[in-house]
Parts: sequence; structure tokens; C-alpha cells
Amino acid sequence: MKNGNHSAINEFILLGFSNLLSLQLFLFPMFLSTYLVTLAGNLIIIFLTLMDAALQTPMYFFLRNLSFLEICYTSVNIPKLLANLLWNHRTISFLGCATQTYFSFFLGGSECFLLASMAYDRYVAICKPLHYPVLMNRKVCMRLAAGSWLSGVFMSFGLTSMVFTLPFCGSNKINHFFCDIPPLLKLACGDTSIIETAVFMVATVFVTIPFMLILMSYIRIISTIMRMPEGEGRRKAFSTCSSHLIVVTLFFGSACVTYLKPNSSYSTDTDKFLSLFYTFFTPMLNPIIYSLRNKEVKGAFWRTMRKTWFC
Ligand SMILES: *[C@@H]1O[C@H](CO)[C@@H](O)[C@H](O)[C@H]1NC(C)=O
Repeated sequence: MKNGNHSAINEFILLGFSNLLSLQLFLFPMFLSTYLVTLAGNLIIIFLTLMDAALQTPMYFFLRNLSFLEICYTSVNIPKLLANLLWNHRTISFLGCATQTYFSFFLGGSECFLLASMAYDRYVAICKPLHYPVLMNRKVCMRLAAGSWLSGVFMSFGLTSMVFTLPFCGSNKINHFFCDIPPLLKLACGDTSIIETAVFMVATVFVTIPFMLILMSYIRIISTIMRMPEGEGRRKAFSTCSSHLIVVTLFFGSACVTYLKPNSSYSTDTDKFLSLFYTFFTPMLNPIIYSLRNKEVKGAFWRTMRKTWFC
């Protein structure tokens, strides 16, 4: 993906939050601490699910995969944003911008299908407990995870190469904090209608379908839980499912609004704030919601702490 002969632009300027001058001092520590909490939470999960014997189940395999993905995903966009805030150095090279777009769509797309795989895992575990060991064997888990990653790889390659072969000849100011496709399309001077359709189709496949699958899984799960006898178990299962559903809805809801609407109605300031949900908050909340509220993970945490301190 070179800028070739039809591009007069060889670098972009990421405006980020430069319109919020009064908030600059407050934004840097806020984003930095969010990033550090995200890294720490997800690293702890990867470490525990690798080390602890009680966490060797499909659910924790997917969780480890999700944590790994979240670390990569946040590391594509956030360090650059932090550098922009700190040094006020807002330029990004053409190739850097293409790389950032490629990785954020690759990892974002993979996350959609990984979250759907996790919901399917919970659905089989709760609604078909007798078939669980057969339906969710090691091979199936590996394939679901690998399929999620590969779908993102190919989708993002397609979209990114379409966008970066467009001619960019006007302004190079991206009103966003990372190189995202909708604000880039605003800067292209060729005909963008084919790409807009492609983005819309991809968003439908990658956002709507996994979201529907997740919703269906949780509806089945909740109706199964409702038929359980009253008690602690039922209350706990219900609270776990509802917190998963909240995180998933935040992630897919913000992505839907950003990518599923026509480009002409694209309002950059609103989208900048909406995209904070899928770039900052879900990666930070996932480890908390999926595991730190979970007894098994807490048990594993204290066991591992004891082992590392006393040996
Ligand atoms: C995630 O899943 C893929 C595909 O099955 C696997 O190759 C990879 O090692 C997993 N990553 C982690 C961190 O578990």
C-alpha cells in the first residue's frame, strides 16, 4: 500500500481532541490510566488462564484469546493518541495511517466474532450441558478462535487497500484520534460511493450478524436460567449474563452507529466520542466484567499469588 502516483499527500494530521484545549491536561492522565488498567487487567487474565489448573476450560481459552486481542487493539491506537496529547505532534505518515487502519479493522472485526464465539460457548454450557464436552472440544475452540482472527485479517485487508488506493489530494487533517475509515473517506477526492457500500456491507456482516447471534444466545441462556429453581445459583448466572450483555451492547452499539450509517450524515465530533467506547472502555471493562467478578478467577488469582510469594 504505497501512496503511489495518484496521491499528493504523504502524511496526515490527526486532530484528535485538539478542539478541547481546556481539557488537554485532564485527557492525558485519563487516557494513560485507562490504557494502563487495560494492559494490567488483560495481562493478569492471560497469566492466570495459562498458569492455573482450574482455568483450563474453553471459556478461559476464549477469554485469554480476547485479552490478547484487546491488548493488541488498544496498543494500535492509544499510544499514538497519548503521544499526540503529550508532544502535540499530530502528524502520521501515509503508511503509518494505513497500518493503523489495517490493524484496527482487523482486530475490531476479529473481536466481533470472538465475542460471538464466547456467547456460543456459554449457550452450549448452560443450555446443552450434557453435550458440552463434545460440542466444545479443543479442536472446535481452536477453529472458532482461528476463524475469528482470519475473518478480520481478510476483511481488513480488503477495506484498507480499497481506501488507501483512493486519491487524497485535498486537506490532510483527520478529525479523529486514529486513522478510521469514515473520516478518511471525507478526505478522499475520488468517487467513494463503492467503498461506502463496501463498508456498509462489511459492517452488516461483522457487526449485525455476531450481535444477533450473541443476543439469541443470551435470550436462550436467560430463558434457561429462568426455569432453574430460585436461589443463589440462578441469581449469579443471571447477573453474569446481564453484565456480559451490557459490555457487548456497548461495543456493538457504538460500532453500529459509527459504521452502519451513510457517510454523508457522518458527524465527526459525535463519532469521536462514540468510538471511545469501543477503543477505550470495552477493552478496559472486559477483564473486569468477564473475570474479576468471577469466583473461579479470583480463586486462581490468590492461589497464584500465594505460590509466587512462598516459592
Ligand atoms: C488464540 O487462538 C488462536 C487460534 O486458535 C491460537 O493460535 C492462539 O494461540 C490463541 N492465543 C492465545 C493468547 O491464547
